[in-house]
Parts: sequence; C-alpha cells; structure tokens
Amino acid sequence: MLKQVQHDMNRNNMAVIETQNLSKDYTARFSKQVVNALNDFTFNVEQGEIFGLLGPNGAGKTTLIKILLAITFPTRGNAKLFGTDVKNYKAKAKVGYLPENHRFPSYLTGEQVLDYYGQLSGMSGGVTMTKRIDEMLGLMNLTQWRKTKIKKYSKGMMQKLGLAQAMLSDPDLIFLDEPTDGVDPIGRKEIRDILSEIKSRGKTIFLNSHLLSEVEMICDRVAILNKGDLIKEGNVDDLTRAENIFAIHTVQPINMDIKQKILAIDSNAGIGENEINTEAGIEKLNSVIDILRAGKVSIQNVNQKTSTLEELFINVIKKDNTN
Ligand SMILES: Nc1ncnc2c1ncn2[C@@H]1O[C@H](COP(=O)(O)OP(=O)(O)OP(=O)(O)O)[C@@H](O)[C@H]1O
Ligand SMILES: [Mg+2]
Repeated sequence: MLKQVQHDMNRNNMAVIETQNLSKDYTARFSKQVVNALNDFTFNVEQGEIFGLLGPNGAGKTTLIKILLAITFPTRGNAKLFGTDVKNYKAKAKVGYLPENHRFPSYLTGEQVLDYYGQLSGMSGGVTMTKRIDEMLGLMNLTQWRKTKIKKYSKGMMQKLGLAQAMLSDPDLIFLDEPTDGVDPIGRKEIRDILSEIKSRGKTIFLNSHLLSEVEMICDRVAILNKGDLIKEGNVDDLTRAENIFAIHTVQPINMDIKQKILAIDSNAGIGENEINTEAGIEKLNSVIDILRAGKVSIQNVNQKTSTLEELFINVIKKDNTN
C-alpha cells in the first residue's frame, strides 16, 4: 500500500522538462563574434505545472524553446522531455506548440485549419480526428465559427484557434509563445480559463510571455532569464512576497509611550494610529510585538507585504545589470 502511494507520488512529481547546464553560443558568420544566448541553464518543470519563462528582449527565451523542440541544438549541456533526450524525435510525441505570430492560411475555415494541422502532426483522419476537432472547437467556444474563413476571425479567436491546434493531438505538454498577445482583456480572461481547464486535465504548460500581470495570475512557477543567465526561479507566491516587510494592525490605538519604545528599536518604523510598518526583519518584528503586548495593545493581524511580479522583475533585472 505504502509502496503504491510512494509510486504515485513519484509519478506525480515526474519532471516533464529537464535541462542540465544548457548553453548556446551563436557565432556570427563573418565577424566570428560569439553571443552567449544561454549559459549553464539548469531547471525542471514538473507534471501539471503552468510554468512561465520571463525575460527582457534578447534574454534567450526563444533559444530555450527552440532547443527544447530540437529546432536548434545546444553548444553544451543537455535537455530531456519526459525523460527522453530532445535529440531523439520521440521526445516530441506528446508535445503541442503554439508559436508566436503564427500564420495560418487565411482562406481556410477554422475546422479546415485544425484538420490540416492535425494531419501535419501525424494524426490519422476519420471519425477520431473529427471528434477531436469538435471537442477542441467546443473547449475554445469556437463551434459557431467553425465554417467561417479565418480571415474574418478576431485576434482573440485566432489565438484560441492556435491553442486548439496546439492541443489537437492531446499532448501532455504544450509550449505557448505569447498566447495572449494582442488579445483584449475579455479574451485574455477566456484564454486564462481555458489554460486552467487544460491544467486540470493534468497537462503541463510552458508559457513565454511579456504580460507579467497575466503570468502572475496563471503561472505556478516562473523563471527569469537575463542575458542567457537564469537569475531567479521559484513559486509565484514566494517570489512576490516581499522579504522582511511587515504591517501590524492593532485593536487599540498606539500611544506616544509605546511609539517611542518602538522607534528606539526600529528608528525607520512607520507608525500610525493603529498600524506599524517595519522592514527591520523578523527579530525586530517580534520585539515590536512584545512592546505592544506589554503595553496591553491587542494585535488584529500581521501581514507580510507583497510586491507584484512586475516590480520583482524590474528589480532583479536592474540588480543583475549593475553587477
Ligand atoms: N540565429 C541566431 N544567430 C545569431 N544570434 C542569435 C540567433 N538567434 C538568437 N540570437 C541572439 O541570441 C540572443 C537571445 O535571443 P532570443 O531570440 O533567444 O531572445 P528572446 O529572449 O526570445 O528575445 P525576445 O523577447 O525579443 O523574443 C540575442 O542576443 C539574439 O540576438
Ligand atoms: Mg523570443
């Protein structure tokens, strides 16, 4: 019994994407100048995660996706999908891909696009494919548009059709390059809901996006790339929790005597009538709480401040660029 549980846990924690010391140098043909597009990049993406790759222009994001899809090859290191080296074409059997700025033939209808790309990905036609196309058009709320030529589609509909194309062969891992690019807020919400639905089916999503608020809302984990280096990686909730910045709210007002005692241990504390903001660290936070309790001031709550993913992104990139 225990063994079975352990086995299931291992299976659930399976790394869908694994890279080890992945590096890519591009050498200019004439000047022979070398660009390190990726340096010693080691990371994992687990099954069922929505993983976001962020980074400024030229950081190496597309290079990484291209290596994972074996469109280009690493200079050093290796990468695996589902435990199979990406150099082996079988690694791509369970992978779907929505490229950035995709261009489907505009004279086709939505269902013809899916039929065409289904055949390109090696799906056999017939009833199974028709059923799958119906299911995908339903999932994307595009059923009523299936017989309409895609030149009449809005940008949001085109992205959803691209998502249907990526999901058509029922892959376990999908790479999405800027899936909500140019889509209005209502369309973006619809795409977010679709991605959550895909995740609930146990699929893994690897997302490349510049829309940080978007990434913050849907990704479980993110990696930030800068000039080919992985400079930050982690759970979105942990990364956006600002270290050592706390707000204490009190039930009773803070009198002058208590205020002075607090300022004696943390001269930078911001003190209002029922609120104290401190950035002095956990130890001093506890000392402040001790002062309040000794002064018979009840604590309503203590909150750790959060920053947005955008603030974190700008800070870590700035810091890395000055190093
Ligand atoms: N085929 C190539 N030949 C030479 N240099 C290249 C090639 N492809 C990419 N590069 C360089 O490698 C670096 C990383 O490029 P990459 O396209 O991976 O960045 P990116 O993070 O996807 O940027 P963006 O956000 O603009 O799409 C850049 O300096 C780019 O100029
Ligand atoms: Mg790119």
